Amino acid sequence: MKVLVLTGSPHPHGTTAFLADEFCLGAIDAGHKIVPFNTAKLNIHSCIGCYHCRENDGNCIYDDDMMQIYPHLLSADAVVLVTPLYYFGMTSQLKAVIDRFFALNTVLRERSKKLYLIAAGNDIDDWAMDAIKVHIKSICRYLGWKEGDMVLATGANTQKDVENTEYQLMARNMGKNL
Ligand SMILES: Cc1cc2nc3c(=O)[nH]c(=O)nc-3n(C[C@H](O)[C@H](O)[C@H](O)COP(=O)(O)O)c2cc1C
Repeated sequence: MKVLVLTGSPHPHGTTAFLADEFCLGAIDAGHKIVPFNTAKLNIHSCIGCYHCRENDGNCIYDDDMMQIYPHLLSADAVVLVTPLYYFGMTSQLKAVIDRFFALNTVLRERSKKLYLIAAGNDIDDWAMDAIKVHIKSICRYLGWKEGDMVLATGANTQKDVENTEYQLMARNMGKNL
């Protein structure tokens, strides 16, 4: 299976980078092909809603690093979003990439894929992950993609908070059991 992994944290050695690595180790172990992008390190413009893509066969007005992601987005069997919780949602860097899916909406809705989520946040409230869960479910519903598993690490402010915890194991197993 080809798996596109989109991480969204500016911390190269942070909580979610660690969980993403665990996921990838599990997936590679199970024989899957991983294509990772750290959206926080790429040059990706926010969508400006100009609808240029609608009138130009899905071609965006911006020729930026999203062009590296699009071919893999189209051909991947599964997409994994990995993000720290920022104000109860994904980071703006990752959201910018999701918004740029818009240019390929029609094609993406015709291609069956599975969407997975790994999120980590410092809060321990039982509602802390509610908004991001609903967001991912809504994206799946809109695109007609299947909902994959979610690893939702709460009380997780740094890599140390998830090392040798159930979250590390869950991320590894998510990769293994795609
Ligand atoms: C701007 C900002 C907003 C944040 N908002 C939340 C939040 O809404 N809920 C939460 O639980 N943690 C929040 N956090 C904490 C991070 O999600 C947490 O530290 C996470 O482990 C960082 O992951 P990373 O090291 O992979 O970047 C926020 C941190 C920052 C910098």
